[in-house]
Amino acid sequence: VEGMQDMSEVVERWGSRRAFIIAVTGAAVGLGNIWRFPWMTGENGGAAFLMLYVVFLVLLGLPVMIAEIMIGRAGRRTPIQALTHLARDAGKSRHWGWLGLFCGVTLFFILSFYSVVSGWSIEYLVDALSGHFASQSPQEIGSAFDAFLASPGRVLFNHTLFLFLTMSVVALGVGGGLERLNNLLMPLLYLLLVLLVGYAFTTSGFTAALAWLFMPDLSALTPMAIFNAMGHAFFTLAVGAGALMTYGAYMPDDQSLPRAVVTVAILDVAVALMAGIAIFSIVFSQNMAPDSGPGLMFVTLPIAFADLPGGALWLGAFFVLLLLATWTSSINLAEPMVAMLGSLGMARWLAAVLIGVGVWLMGLPSALSFSIWSDVRPFGDMTLFDLATTLPIDIMLPIGGLLIAFFAAWVMEGTRASMAIGAGERFYRHWRAVVRWVSIPLLVVVLVGFFLS
Ligand code: PHE
Ligand code: NA
Repeated sequence: VEGMQDMSEVVERWGSRRAFIIAVTGAAVGLGNIWRFPWMTGENGGAAFLMLYVVFLVLLGLPVMIAEIMIGRAGRRTPIQALTHLARDAGKSRHWGWLGLFCGVTLFFILSFYSVVSGWSIEYLVDALSGHFASQSPQEIGSAFDAFLASPGRVLFNHTLFLFLTMSVVALGVGGGLERLNNLLMPLLYLLLVLLVGYAFTTSGFTAALAWLFMPDLSALTPMAIFNAMGHAFFTLAVGAGALMTYGAYMPDDQSLPRAVVTVAILDVAVALMAGIAIFSIVFSQNMAPDSGPGLMFVTLPIAFADLPGGALWLGAFFVLLLLATWTSSINLAEPMVAMLGSLGMARWLAAVLIGVGVWLMGLPSALSFSIWSDVRPFGDMTLFDLATTLPIDIMLPIGGLLIAFFAAWVMEGTRASMAIGAGERFYRHWRAVVRWVSIPLLVVVLVGFFLS
C-alpha cells in the first residue's frame, strides 16, 4: 500500500509538471511559429535570419523567460502587484509597478493585430472546407489572398468574430477548459506538420528550401534582420509582456523552471522549423518569391494541400488546429490585461468588454492596411500593418524584456529569486551572471544600435 501511495504521488506530481509545460506551450505556439517565422525568414535572407534568431533565443529569450516566470512564481499576483510587492520586499522603488502597466500596453497592441491575422485563418478555414482551392491554380490561389485582404468587410467580420471568441472565454473565465481541449488536439497539429514536411520532401523545391533555411548567406545580415530576429525571439516564446508571469504562480513547488522552459523552447523551434520547411519547399517548387510578406503562409499551404488527396479536408483540419493554437495564445494575451483591471476592482465581464472594444478599435489599422488605408504611410515606406506588428514585437517586447531581466537580476532579493527558479544556488548564480553580463548588455546594444541607424 505504501508503494502504491508513492506511485500515485509520483504520477500526480508528474501530471502537474506536465500541465505547466503544456500551458506555457499553449502560449508559445501560435502565429509566431507558423505565420510570422516563415514571413520573417523569407524577408530577411533565410538561414542568416534563422541563425540570428536561434542565437537570440538562447542568449535572450531563454534567460528572460526564466526571469519572467520566476517573478510570477515568487510574487504570485498580477504583473503589477507582483512587481510592486517584490520591489518593496527588496527595499527598492515602488514604481516598478509601472513595468506591469507597460506590459499590459504591449499585450494590447499585440492582441490587436493577432486577432486580425487569426481572422484571416477563419476566412481560410471556411474557404478550405467549401473546396474553394481544390480547382485553383497556384496563381489563382495567390491572387485570391490579395483580393480577400482588399475587402474590408470580410477582414473586419473575421477580426470581430475571433476577438469575440477570445474575449468570451476570458469573460467567462473558462480558459482552463479550452486549455484541456488544446492539450488534447495540439499533438494533431504537430502530426499534420510532420505530414506536410513529408509532402514537402516529394516536391522539387525541397533541397532548395533546406539550403535557404540552413546555409547562411552572411551578406543578408542587415540591421533590420538583426532587429527582427531579436523581436521574434521574444514574440515566439511569449516573453517580454508579462503574459507568462501568471503561470509561475501555478507551478508545482519542486519543479525546476529551467528544464521546463528549455522543453517549451525546443517544441516551439521544432514547430517553426517544420512550418518553414513545408512553406519554403512550396515557394521554391512554384518559383515564388520567399519575400512575399505576411501572406506567405496563406498562399503556400493551400497550394500544398490542393495537391494532396482529400486536400480540402486536410487544409480545413490544418486551419482548425491553427485557430485553436492562436485562440489559446490570444487568451494568454488578453487574460493579464483583464486581471489587471480586475485587481482594480472592476467586474471580470466589464473588464473583458472594455479590453475587447479597445483591442477591436486598435485592430482597425491592421485590418484596413491592405484596403482603404493601403496608402497611409506615416513612417518611411512602412504600411500600417508593418507598424502595428513591428512596434509591439520588435520594440516593446525587447524593452519589456530588458526591464524584466534587470528587475530579476539586479532588483529582486537573490535568495528569493534563487528559490523561485528552483534549480539550485549554483544554477542561479550562473543564470544571473548571464542575464547581468550578456543578456542585458546585448539588448541595450541592439536597441540603441537600432534607434541610431
Ligand atoms: N508566442 C505566441 C506566438 O508565437 C504569441 C504570444 C506573444 C502569445 C506574447 C502570448 C504573449 O504566436
Ligand atoms: Na511561438
